Amino acid sequence: MDASLPSGCRFIDLAVRGDERGSLVAIEALADVPFRIERAYFIYGTKPGVERGFHAHRQCAQFAVAVAGSCMMSLDDGSVTAEARLDRPDRGIVIPPMNWHEMRDFSDDCVLLVLADAPYDEGDYIRDRDEFRRLTAR
Ligand code: TYD
Repeated sequence: MDASLPSGCRFIDLAVRGDERGSLVAIEALADVPFRIERAYFIYGTKPGVERGFHAHRQCAQFAVAVAGSCMMSLDDGSVTAEARLDRPDRGIVIPPMNWHEMRDFSDDCVLLVLADAPYDEGDYIRDRDEFRRLTAR
């Protein structure tokens, strides 16, 4: 557990199977990420200055890794906030449910791979920051 990150968020280092040909990283459900993978998507070709995310998921857990380039991700569980730099293809971050996240400062070459434990469901999104604050108020 990384004490500086919101609850449940953590970096995961992925094993690199490198040899003289180059590198290979494998991500297996329930071994390298702590959930069954139901969906993968990736964000690339992000225009300069674009910021994405600005939501939390009610139930869905995700794992994000910049397989090329870099970006910044801010995370907020309602009481702890943190800025995470994603800039390695062998190090990703777990975004648990009920974590408001925003991504910015995408490099031109950034490919952000996201693995999720559920199919896409717009109903799982909280896109209103005030609603998120209300739901996470202690
Ligand atoms: P959006 O939620 O706006 O992306 P971000 O959180 O990065 O700002 O998603 C952009 C579009 O892609 C939107 O029309 C919904 C669609 N989408 C899917 O169809 N499936 C998915 O798994 C995701 C993440 C998005």
